[in-house]
Amino acid sequence: MATKRNILIGITGGIAAYKALSLIRLFAKSGYEVKVVATQNALQFVTPLTIETLSNNSLYSDTFALPTERNIDHIALSDWADAVVVAPATANIIGKLASGIADDALSTLLLATKKPLFLAPSMNEKMFQHFSVQANLEYLQQHGIYIIEPDEGFLACQTTGKGRMAEPEAIFDEINNFLTTQHEPPTIKALVTAGPTYEPIDPVRFVGNYSSGLMGFSLAEALAQQGIQVELISGPTQLQTHHPLIRRSDVKTAAEMFEVCSEKVAQCDIIIMAAAVADYTPVETQVEKIKKENNLTNIALKPTTDILKTLSESKKENQFFVGFALETDNELENAKKKLHSKNLDLIVLNSLKDKGAGFNVPTNKVYLMDKSGKVIDIPLQSKEKIAALIVEYMLTVYNQKNQKT
Ligand code: CTP
Repeated sequence: MATKRNILIGITGGIAAYKALSLIRLFAKSGYEVKVVATQNALQFVTPLTIETLSNNSLYSDTFALPTERNIDHIALSDWADAVVVAPATANIIGKLASGIADDALSTLLLATKKPLFLAPSMNEKMFQHFSVQANLEYLQQHGIYIIEPDEGFLACQTTGKGRMAEPEAIFDEINNFLTTQHEPPTIKALVTAGPTYEPIDPVRFVGNYSSGLMGFSLAEALAQQGIQVELISGPTQLQTHHPLIRRSDVKTAAEMFEVCSEKVAQCDIIIMAAAVADYTPVETQVEKIKKENNLTNIALKPTTDILKTLSESKKENQFFVGFALETDNELENAKKKLHSKNLDLIVLNSLKDKGAGFNVPTNKVYLMDKSGKVIDIPLQSKEKIAALIVEYMLTVYNQKNQKT
């Protein structure tokens, strides 16, 4: 690190507060000056003595404490910081920040700061998925606040699910990378779909496919690394996102994916549909498990909405649509047809005949075809590298298109 940086860490009252101690340590060890603001609830989990010893600075937790030489007010603190992170961020602090409530030292400071602000949510999965928490996170992200997605795993409430605070190392890496690279606020926003969809037959069975979601997730990371804000709409997958510019929405069915995409598409400049959306869904979903003695021999299916085709019908002049084509025969010809019938600017073709390409493998080999009919062959390599190359090419075509208009 060339210059010494100042990081302000906010700690709120969740069990993950103990992990904030490792975060203080990681920043301090890497040469950062660290100051900490903790809520009264946070101090039920960690002690002022530990925080002050690890950060080598006074703890700030009382709005009404008299300023002393080492104890400055909240405005001066936020001016001092190069970035602010709240880890763990409980549903309470997220709600307060989204509603403009300032009733303690930390919430007051968060409203006063204009510095890059990162939140690392930590809570029970049901709380994390609650519509009000999700709406607050979305609102805060729309206003330029970076959300460091929680992990899935074992939670303090003895259940497993999404809500466990990201590991201190991951939080440190995101903020350190952010501060050590030059950042302009994102001007381009992308919508990316990823993964399979599951179309329920009964409570235990579904119509689905082998997509792992890796291609779509890699594209989301590659776009975010280019400073692009990403709305990632993902079908069921085990994958995690890493970059703070990625906002993830989880869906199960094609209908849910269509609904979320329809809500978000108008605000996006680049739309990439990498999801393997089921083309058919059961006409009826049985409420009870279908038993063997039912002698079921077939399931009636109906077509799903073609999300890409439907959304591209209302394509705006400045929007850039990218589709995927997964083919087993007449590959280039079929891809060309899809490029035109779905009103796309670019199509990424996967041929299942190519070894190491397609579903559920870490590698891919693709062809890119643009509207002029130009075809680019990208040889076999990891999906992360393929994603970086697709994004590089796509941004060249996108910028050319938008210079003309
Ligand atoms: N797609 C979509 N909604 C669907 C089906 C597909 O948005 N219901 C999108 C995919 O995300 C992909 C593109 O359309 O970007 C092409 O998907 P693909 O499965 O290759 O083609 P289909 O249009 O489904 O046609 P077919 O399965 O007959 O090849």
